[in-house]
Amino acid sequence: MTKQTISVQLSTTKKQKPQTDQLEFGRIFTDHMFIMDYSVERGWHDPKIVPYQPIEMDPAAMVYHYGQSVFEGLKAYLSKEGKVLLFRPKKNIERLNQSNNRLCIPQVDPDTVLEGLKTLIQIDKEWIPTAEGTSLYIRPFIISTEPFLGVAPSKMYKLLIILSPVGSYYKEGIHPVKIAVESEFVRAVAGGTGTAKTAGNYAASLKAQEVAESLGFSQVLWLDGVERKYIEEVGSMNIFFKINDEIVTPALNGSILEGITRNSVIYLLRQWGYSVIEKKISIEELFAAYEAGQLEEAFGTGTAAVISPIGELMWKEHHLVINNGQTGKIAKQLYETITGIQKGAIQDSFDWTIEVDSIRL
Ligand code: COI
Repeated sequence: MTKQTISVQLSTTKKQKPQTDQLEFGRIFTDHMFIMDYSVERGWHDPKIVPYQPIEMDPAAMVYHYGQSVFEGLKAYLSKEGKVLLFRPKKNIERLNQSNNRLCIPQVDPDTVLEGLKTLIQIDKEWIPTAEGTSLYIRPFIISTEPFLGVAPSKMYKLLIILSPVGSYYKEGIHPVKIAVESEFVRAVAGGTGTAKTAGNYAASLKAQEVAESLGFSQVLWLDGVERKYIEEVGSMNIFFKINDEIVTPALNGSILEGITRNSVIYLLRQWGYSVIEKKISIEELFAAYEAGQLEEAFGTGTAAVISPIGELMWKEHHLVINNGQTGKIAKQLYETITGIQKGAIQDSFDWTIEVDSIRL
C-alpha cells in the first residue's frame, strides 16, 4: 500500500470553542474531519480533510443493517512547550487493521491514516483543551456504505476521523467507581468479535450497563461467556488487581480487547519492579483474595478514562469494598505517569509519544 496525498478544504466559518473546565466526554466536535472512500475498483482513495459536516448515505447502506463497522479511540495533548503530542497512534492504526480483518473490511494504509490524523489535528489544534483531566479525543472509524441488503462483506466503505475536546469519561474522574459483577449478560465469547473494536460489542453491552446504572453502579464487571466464571473486562476497559503484592490481569484469550493502555500499564509496572501476571482469574479466586485481606487494589484501564479505580464490587450478595473505597497508590501513580507522558511533562523512556509536526497548509 502506498501513502496517498491528502487534500485539504478549510472551513470558512469557525465554531465557538467550549469552556474547557466544563467539558463532558464526546459531545462537542471540532471544525474539520478526515474522510476517505473505498471501492473495489479504486481501493481506498480520495483522502481529504473537509469542514465537519453530516454525511449523506443511502438508507440501504449495509452498516445500518448488519453493523459492519470498526472504530478506534486515542488522544492528543498540548504540552507546556506548545507541542501537539499523540500517544502510541501507530498501535491504534495497527489495531484498526486487526479489527478490519475480523470484520472483513479492507486493510488501510497505516501511513495515509497517520498522516490524515496528524494533518487534521494540526488544523484543529486550537481545540486541544489544556485544563486538568481534558484532552482532544480522536475517533477514527470505518462504516460499510454499499446499498445492499444481502448479508455479505460490503464492497464500499468510508473511513472518517472526527475530533472531540473531552473531559473525564466517568463523572467520578480518577475517583473510585462502584461496579456490579454481571452474571446474566455477556460481552463477548472466544471466536466472536470481542477482540475487535466493533460497534456491535458496545451495543451488546448496553443492557447490562442500563440495569447496573439503575441499581446505582457505574459499570459492570464482565465474566466469560461460557462458564460465567472468569473475569474478562470492566465496562469498556481492561481490568487489573493488586493481590498480595502481585499485579494480576486477565490473559488475552480471544474475547478480551487488547487495550493499548493495558499494554502500557504492563510495561510501566514491570519497569517499576512489580511482578505482573497475565492469567485466567476467576471471580471466586478474587473473592477468596478479598476475604483473606489480600485484594489491595482494583482498577480499569482504557483510552477514555486512562485509569479508573474500583472502590466497590458487588458480586451476588457479597459487597467488596476495595482499599476503603479510596484510589489506590498504584492506580494514582499509573494515572499520573501515563497522563504525564501523554502531556510531555514526564520523561517518555518508551518513545510512546509522537509529535505532530507543523505542516504548511
Ligand atoms: C476506552 O476506554 O477507551 C473505550 O474504548 C471507551 C470508548 C468506547 C468511549
